[in-house]
Amino acid sequence: MRIASIPTRGRTLDYAAAVYDFCEPFLLLGRQAEYDRHLLELLATRPTDRVLDLGCGTGLLCRRIADRLDPHAGGEAVGIDAAGRMIGLARRKRGGPGCRFEAMAAEALDFPPASFDAVVSSLFFHHVDRELKRMSLEEAYRVLKPGGRLIIADMHTPTTRMGALVSHVARWFFLQPQIAENTRGLLPGLIAAAGFATPHLAATYFGYIAVFTSHKP
Ligand SMILES: C[S@@+](CC[C@H](N)C(=O)[O-])C[C@H]1O[C@@H](n2cnc3c(N)ncnc32)[C@H](O)[C@@H]1O
Repeated sequence: MRIASIPTRGRTLDYAAAVYDFCEPFLLLGRQAEYDRHLLELLATRPTDRVLDLGCGTGLLCRRIADRLDPHAGGEAVGIDAAGRMIGLARRKRGGPGCRFEAMAAEALDFPPASFDAVVSSLFFHHVDRELKRMSLEEAYRVLKPGGRLIIADMHTPTTRMGALVSHVARWFFLQPQIAENTRGLLPGLIAAAGFATPHLAATYFGYIAVFTSHKP
């Protein structure tokens, strides 16, 4: 069944859904498993946790999170993406008990307040403009329980010449000013402004991706 995409100003990837799983290993230079494993370690889930993945794409990270949860004890990983085709693929390839996918915009989450123990997001925030980044972070804050963890991995101020080159080429090749906002270093300030504890830079990858951890006080 075809799933309708959700209207958003974000750069959705309906057009790339069918090839996304083949391309991502190249974009992450063959280190996708290591990168995902690190995010899982930082998430440090308990089996009963409810975890939300913003801009989940085809749902691989969300599936890996779900594999660490116990659906019989209430554990659940929920992936949302505004691209209907991404959600269709995620449901087919990675859905199952304790792992569900919904077409939804990160800036307008259809979940009650304080309904998740953790929110994670990988490579989503460079797809939305500053205002949507702000709204998405406020929504993440709203749906997290007090003490809930936030993990964001995304493009940030480059730390190597190669990282700077990749960021610059990506910004102009994809004509995506949202990338330039990230590389100017906007994310940590926006995370704090949404009410989260001062974000901690937990890791950098490839000279252009930073992993931030924080929590809702
Ligand atoms: C580069 S992909 C990242 C996918 C996955 N998280 C990963 O790490 O491979 C960015 C995703 O964000 C989605 N997206 C863009 N704008 C969005 C929005 N406003 N709300 C939810 N998802 C959005 C796109 O459709 C796309 O699937």
